[in-house]
Amino acid sequence: MRQIIIFDTTLRDGEQSPGASMNFSEKMEVAMALDELGVDVIEAGFPIASPGDFESVVEVSKLVKGSSVCGLARCVDKDIDTAYESLKYAVNPRIHIFLATSPIHREYKLKMSADEIVERTVAGVKRGRALCGNIEFSCEDACRTEIDFLCRVVEAAINAGASTVNIPDTVGYTTPHEMFERIDALRNRVPNIDKAVISVHCHNDLGMAVANSLAAVQAGAGQIECTINGLGERAGNCSMEEVVMAIKVRSDIFDAQTQITTQRLYPTSKLVSSVTGLQVPRNKAIVGRNAFAHESGVHQDGMLKERTTYEIIRPEDVGIPKTDLVLGKHSGRAALADRVKSLGFELTAEQINTLFDEFKVLADRKKEVFDGDLRALVQLVLHKSNRNDENVIPKWTLVSYELTTKTGSKPRMTVTLNDGKQEVKDSNDGGDGPVDSMFLVIRKLTGLDISFREMNMLSVTLGEDAQAEVTVLINAGTQTYRGLGVSPDTIEATAIAILNAINRIE
Ligand code: KIV
Ligand code: ZN
Repeated sequence: MRQIIIFDTTLRDGEQSPGASMNFSEKMEVAMALDELGVDVIEAGFPIASPGDFESVVEVSKLVKGSSVCGLARCVDKDIDTAYESLKYAVNPRIHIFLATSPIHREYKLKMSADEIVERTVAGVKRGRALCGNIEFSCEDACRTEIDFLCRVVEAAINAGASTVNIPDTVGYTTPHEMFERIDALRNRVPNIDKAVISVHCHNDLGMAVANSLAAVQAGAGQIECTINGLGERAGNCSMEEVVMAIKVRSDIFDAQTQITTQRLYPTSKLVSSVTGLQVPRNKAIVGRNAFAHESGVHQDGMLKERTTYEIIRPEDVGIPKTDLVLGKHSGRAALADRVKSLGFELTAEQINTLFDEFKVLADRKKEVFDGDLRALVQLVLHKSNRNDENVIPKWTLVSYELTTKTGSKPRMTVTLNDGKQEVKDSNDGGDGPVDSMFLVIRKLTGLDISFREMNMLSVTLGEDAQAEVTVLINAGTQTYRGLGVSPDTIEATAIAILNAINRIE
């Protein structure tokens, strides 16, 4: 079987998704999870884009030991040199250089002729190669590039030293059949193609990113670029969990395999969803809440008789635990630590201690603590632990709130916060509802110039005593900050999320 290289770009293209930006410690968390998942290449960022991007590529390079670490660069000297500066600490660094090749981009964006594109490609790849032995070259908008010209650029890039040539479907325009033909043409027409790995990077604008990537594999591509939960520009990129499981389940068709530890797919999906605040749709393949739920009587009957009647993947194979084990207020620290480990989280002793305290508080309020509850608590503990992140210094905490409200009248809200030194209290009569009212009092108490942008609420488990997981986006100046709060009380969860976002500002 052919080994397909899995190149993850959650931290670069994924992070470009509107609302998906991650702070430094979140990026480290995700990088460690990707390393553990077994991805071959982690694209850690676009180092020239900002000092923050540069720093996080440096730290991912130092942190990650198993995967190759890659940084993106436009095909210009400054970008390439900066990318290498940030990647030089990695065990196996890769510079990813890109230049658009399609007529639309040549004419309107770059204002360069075809010959100039080839010249720039050669110069850029050579410059990168002088610094680093592992160079990937991407022909941006390759799927709208004339095939003759694409062959010419790819040949030139390989001659100049690229060991991977990437064929992005930048605007998600191609179809599986067309992608197959494009990769097949490159394999048949580029004389030095055997000296490089062909990669694809498919966007999902027409919902075909996974199908197009798989067609490319069938035509001989050896690397797939993808993201956790399919995050990425606009409609996103090829979803890693889907493409990896398709290759695994249908290895009879693809005659290929990956080195992904598939049991880590679900925990990693949960982590990325939690740090980005972008929830996974219930019906999403592989990692959605309904992906393994059997509702109809006929299906349930079939499942009881023989699982394979309606299930092509065992939930355990993607890391969904077999049983939703219940813990309660009498459960001890060891049972908690054990369960958290089996859910796929590696926590430090200090984090386990914090988690245990939070767990006890929750178990007092809620009879049964399910895996979903635990997962939410762990995310909260990870979110709070400000590993190496000086920007996240928890300060404001909720002490209590009091709310009086009824249909047709403005709520009255009184909130007590702790500012890290002392308690402060204030009230207001107003707001469109409890959430607005809570936000207005918190804004008054913190004295910050902030506005409320967006809020999402999710029930962590089932049942009437389920916890609410609230994500909020708060605007302060030109920046947007995300906050997460979990509690069986929805208003309390909202307040915690607002304060979590505020603590990031400061
Ligand atoms: O979509 C795209 O073309 C890209 C390149 C930088 C690879 O993200
Ligand atoms: Zn892209």
